[in-house]
Formats: sequence, C-alpha cells, structure tokens
Amino acid sequence: MATAAPVWPRCDETPAWHQLQQAFASSGRTFDLRAAFASDANRFQAFSQEAPHVFADLSKNLVDAPTQSLLLALARQCALEAQRDAMLSGAAVNNTENRSVLHVLLRKQAAAPGNTSDAAIENIASKLSDVAATRDAMLAYAQQVRADAAITDIVNIGIGGSDLGPQMAVLALDGLATPGRRLHFVSNVDGHELAAVLARVEPRSTLFLVASKTFTTVETMTNARSARDWFLAHGGTDVARHFAALTTNVQAARDFGISTTFGFWDWVGGRYSLWSAIGLPIAIAIGAQGFRELLAGAQAMDEHFASAPLERNLPVRLALLDVWYRNFHGFSSRSIAPYHSALRRLPAYLQQLEMESNGKRVDRHGRLLPFGTAPVLWGEPGTNGQHAYFQMLHQGTDVVPVEFIAVKQAAHKLAGHHTQLLANVLAQAQALMQGKADAGGHKDFPGNRPSTMLVLERLDAASLGALIALQEHRVFCSGALWGINSFDQWGVELGKVLAGDIAPRFASGDLRGLDGSTAGLLQRLRSPDVTS
Ligand code: F6P
Repeated sequence: MATAAPVWPRCDETPAWHQLQQAFASSGRTFDLRAAFASDANRFQAFSQEAPHVFADLSKNLVDAPTQSLLLALARQCALEAQRDAMLSGAAVNNTENRSVLHVLLRKQAAAPGNTSDAAIENIASKLSDVAATRDAMLAYAQQVRADAAITDIVNIGIGGSDLGPQMAVLALDGLATPGRRLHFVSNVDGHELAAVLARVEPRSTLFLVASKTFTTVETMTNARSARDWFLAHGGTDVARHFAALTTNVQAARDFGISTTFGFWDWVGGRYSLWSAIGLPIAIAIGAQGFRELLAGAQAMDEHFASAPLERNLPVRLALLDVWYRNFHGFSSRSIAPYHSALRRLPAYLQQLEMESNGKRVDRHGRLLPFGTAPVLWGEPGTNGQHAYFQMLHQGTDVVPVEFIAVKQAAHKLAGHHTQLLANVLAQAQALMQGKADAGGHKDFPGNRPSTMLVLERLDAASLGALIALQEHRVFCSGALWGINSFDQWGVELGKVLAGDIAPRFASGDLRGLDGSTAGLLQRLRSPDVTS
C-alpha cells in the first residue's frame, strides 16, 4: 500500500528554478569554459574539493559562481537536507512501497547505543543490531569458504542488483583477491551463460550462491534450478554444503532446499544491496577485513553526505550539475570513463543505479513531470573508449558530459603504462574543453565540452566503497530535487508479465490476442520440435 507522499517542493515549483531559467537564457547557454579559466586564475581551487577517499575537480563544468549559488538555492528550496535526513532516519521515503530506505545502516560498523526513548532511534538501533549479527554470520561463513581448500569455484547466480554490485566490486578488487579461487557470475536466463560456467566446474569443488532479494526472479530461479539439477546429475551429494542463499525471503530459499541462508531486509533496495548479504562473493574474494574496509569507505562518504554544508557536499554538487545539464542545457546522457580497467563493470553498475532509480516520468504524487529525469548512462574504461566513441564526444552534434575517474597509484609494476594512462585521462578532459580551431573544417574541435574528474589515491576496498556511496547519494539528491521516488521500479513489471504470457505459447502455438508483429515473430522463433 502506498503511503502519503511527503510534501517537499519539487524543483520546478521553486523561485530558484525560474531564476535558473533566466540565468541560463542570459548567460548559461553561452558560458565558455576557456574564458572562465582565462578570467579566473583560481577556478580550479574554487571548483574542486576533497571528500572521503575522493578528490573531485568540477572546474571543467559549464557553471560559474552565480549559477552555483542559484543551484544551491534550488537545493535549499527543495528541502534537500530535510529529504536527506528523512531517508537517514528511516522515514518511508519509498512511498509507493511504504518502505524505509536504509542501506546506509549496512555500512555502520557499531550498533548505536540503545538506551534512548526516541522511537525512531530505537527502531534504527534494533535494525543495527540485526545488521551486525547477520554481517558477522555472513563474514564468518566467507572466512570458512576461504579456508576450505576443497572449494575452488564460487558461482553467484543472481541478476540486477543481485549481480551487478558484487560482480563490479569483485572485478574492481581483483588485485586484493586470494589467488587460486575463481568467482563466476551467472545472471542471464540465456542458458549459454550457465552452460559455459558449468562446463568449467566440478560439483565437489563448487559453491553456488543463489542471490535474490525476492527469491522469485524468473531468471535467477531458472538458473538456480538448472544448477541444482546439474549438481545432482553429476554426482553432487551435499546440497547444504554446496548451495547458499542470499535473500530477504529465507522461507522460499528453504523451500527450494537451501539450508544455508543469509538474510537482509525490505528496506534495502536491490540496487543498493551489495553492502548486505548480497556482498558475500566480495567477502569471499577479499576476506572479512577487506569487506569491512569497503563498508568503512562507504560510511565515511555517508558521514560527509550527512554533515557537510551543501556547498561542500560532493554528492549534492554532482546532483546539482546533473540537474543543470539535464533540465537547462538539455543534455540527455552522461558518459562514465573510468581510467582503470578493473572498473570495467562500473558503467553497467551505475546504469542500474541511476536509470532504475531515476528513470521515472511521474513525481512521487503520481503527477506527470514536465521536465526530463535520469540521463542515459554509458561508458567504457579508458583508454579503450578513446578508440571507439570519443570521436563523437569531441566532434559529434550532441554534448555529453563525461565523468572521468583517475586512480593515482597503479597496483602493477609495469614501467611506463600508468604515466601514459594518466596522461591520456588528463589529455581527454583538456581536449574536450579546449577544442581546436580549423576554420569549421573536419579537423575543427568545438571544445567547451564539460567533464568532471574524480581522483582516487588508489583503488582499494575503502576507496571503492566511498566512490559507490558517492554515486548512490548523488542519485538520491537528483531524484529528491526532481520530486520522484528513486526507490521503486514499476517499469520493469510489464515486460515480466508479458514474458510470462508468451513463454507457454512456444509450446502451444497459441497466437490469439497477440499483435501482428509479436505473432509473426513467435511463429518464426518456435522450434519445429516444440510445435508437435
Ligand atoms: O526487475 C528489476 C529488479 O527487481 C531489480 O530491481 C533487482 O535488482 C533485480 O530485479 C533482481 O531482483 P532479485 O534480487 O529480487 O532477484
């Protein structure tokens, strides 16, 4: 049942919104980065900042001090701090599902003191002690798996938030993983994926983790059933030792036959769940201590988000730029360019985070929005992207803000590579901004193309935790300014229902009620052996 939506002002209902429209018309549209740097020797210092584990240079964005002030006024007039505090104190900000949004609790390492009479704080304290107990059990299990030399392969079966977060983090922290143990991620219902993994593993040395918040997702249940059938058919005997479930629906996991379960709670959204039991593959890869460092990095960013003044609050500043670009400049996408190959799944992870959270066309009251929301997110690691789509970023007709991620220290010792990598990330941001005049010819670069540079000292568990928490809070802030519920995802339901209707038609051949195209394609795709 949906709860009454809170009455915080929506961005377009504020005086600042109209002032921003005027500012965009008078100077924002023609703002020139090159001129801004030429007239302000201090621009880099003024538009860059430290946050926990992350340094951010925002100076190559199309914004000046007056516009930044107006954007901050917009945040205040939308009661952004009150919205943040409501989320952090456990209010049901996911109003269409009547749920709190408390993934930040998963990062807190010590339970809060329980001797208080305030009901909200008591509620949080009791959740925190559940979190600590579950986390301790999950991390003890991770250590046990790590100590078990007989288990060489771990297969995570999950999709969406039950796949992208752990997969992205395991790849990112691969340098810290214990050698000799392989982690596999199976998400797609396309059997090619599971079949390829099963061809490389043995039942007696494999642990399957069935990761699903709901334990009903068709892809995951189909893969889990096939994995269990394969395990039994290939001589596997001890399901309890070789299967574990990570879910809020512990009963459904037991009904499936899995007795080793680690739970979490409905106040953890799927795309915010890597900090929960869903993070077990990460803990197996890097150990309990490493997992705690990941949480600590995220918690440091949580504290920054909760307490830094808005003008020095990095998630807030990134979100304000997102709104400025989306709703005033009309830019409809953002490219993510991590200059570290271990971050190669970060763009996919951020796609779900941003586009499933903020890809909404109505506000939290259900009113149609008159402005754009989530941009399209996409990207590839640098320098690969430079040799693929950067042409379009430099000379295409659309302006795409780019978010670069640079890591100062390399984790390898190959001479010369890292300097080249870092030279390239600086050069790309510089080229996008500076451009190069060629009298309108093919070699003309317009320049004035915006970018943000996020800098990590090194890629480790703590800095990854902080980077991800930064992105989570930034998505929360833009969603809050847009007045939407960033924590539901009704848009994925229709396709699931229609797939459920179409699947049995492959066997029955029943085309009744289908549109002409779907009927024609179904006939084409049906195999002869299922038509009989
Ligand atoms: O269908 C979308 C979605 O609900 C995502 O939000 C979620 O991360 C994914 O499916 C997987 O869901 P579950 O963890 O319940 O299997």
